[in-house]
Amino acid sequence: MPNRRRFLKIVGGGTILAATGVAGFLATRTPHRALAPWRPEPYGDPRKAALSYAILAPNPHNLQPWLVELIGQNTVRIHRDTDRELPATDPYHRQLYIGLGAFIETMVLAAGAQGFQVRIEYLPDGEGGSVAEAVFVSGGNADPLSDQILKRHSNKEAFTAQRLSDTDMSTLGDYADLIADAGDVAQVKELTKRAFEIEMRTPRTLKESVDLMRIGKAEINANPDGIEMRDPMLETLRLTGLLDNETLMDVDHPGNKAFLRGYFEILDATPHYAVITTARNTRRDQLDAGRQLMRLYLKTTEMGLGLHPVSQALQEYPEMETEYALAHELLASPGHTVQMLLRLGYGPEPIATPRWPLETRILNDA
Ligand SMILES: Cc1cc2nc3c(=O)[nH]c(=O)nc-3n(C[C@H](O)[C@H](O)[C@H](O)COP(=O)(O)O)c2cc1C
Repeated sequence: MPNRRRFLKIVGGGTILAATGVAGFLATRTPHRALAPWRPEPYGDPRKAALSYAILAPNPHNLQPWLVELIGQNTVRIHRDTDRELPATDPYHRQLYIGLGAFIETMVLAAGAQGFQVRIEYLPDGEGGSVAEAVFVSGGNADPLSDQILKRHSNKEAFTAQRLSDTDMSTLGDYADLIADAGDVAQVKELTKRAFEIEMRTPRTLKESVDLMRIGKAEINANPDGIEMRDPMLETLRLTGLLDNETLMDVDHPGNKAFLRGYFEILDATPHYAVITTARNTRRDQLDAGRQLMRLYLKTTEMGLGLHPVSQALQEYPEMETEYALAHELLASPGHTVQMLLRLGYGPEPIATPRWPLETRILNDA
């Protein structure tokens, strides 16, 4: 067991930071290597150029569950990386397919900006095979949303109380269902908090997150995926051995309790929600929901709004059944599936998250 008294003292007093030369330490903590894909290099092959943007798509737990195969001169096959799954929180891979849909939409938008049109065939070999085949042909048009791809980031911060104007509500209404009524917002807020706590208190779902935590620069650069934590205080605790995975699994540890309180404050600071639902829940519906999600993200980026998925109540495991049912009762027509629930509002500038470089995602790079 970690030395709890020492951990407490450090969490409370910042003793370690004082001892390690704070200013110099803070200045060097950005994991530049892990963030390099946000400055895509020019590629002669339009498919690689579009794919270098596609890898920036939002995806659950930043697993980046995509692999691509370049075929001939103009075709891309998109595969799901079966080594990158979330068996506890996404047992049916629904969220992974949403991420893959966002990847496809980003690729299509980036190709359009370079004058290429992309013909997409979903699931060309049926459900067990590749996710999609994409054929690039010349003649695409740039969609203004493509200008936002490099600026789009999930905004996991507290939002201000500022509400959207009626005009903005109506514009965004083309991209998602929006929740604005104060009573409805309050109900969803409580739901997201309860669901988050269930995920934290269910050991196997918590473990899935803990195993994916990358704390501090060295861990993030070594594995540019998962749940990155850049906070220098946490990095210091990690480096000194005081914040190991066993401590992170102890939900009653004061550090974890403080984290939960802080996260509830963020969840509380939410003026609106956006919701994406589908009438059915096939793989195609999930891919389409991901494409819609990407467009919603880009539109909110263009409008200066923050967007933050809060997916816990939508997850399909037994401990979440009651919240899942309530989420569907509140947010969808009977029989429909809520694919995404997102906080929406005005917040501080969000930061970029790590990505594996494109080359590591191409199965047959020449
Ligand atoms: C299907 C799906 C579910 C997600 N669920 C959550 C969530 O519950 N909580 C959260 O903080 N982020 C969630 N995210 C956001 C991802 O964590 C985020 O996209 C990923 O870390 C990459 O960061 P970026 O969107 O800023 O590029 C979700 C994203 C997708 C596509």
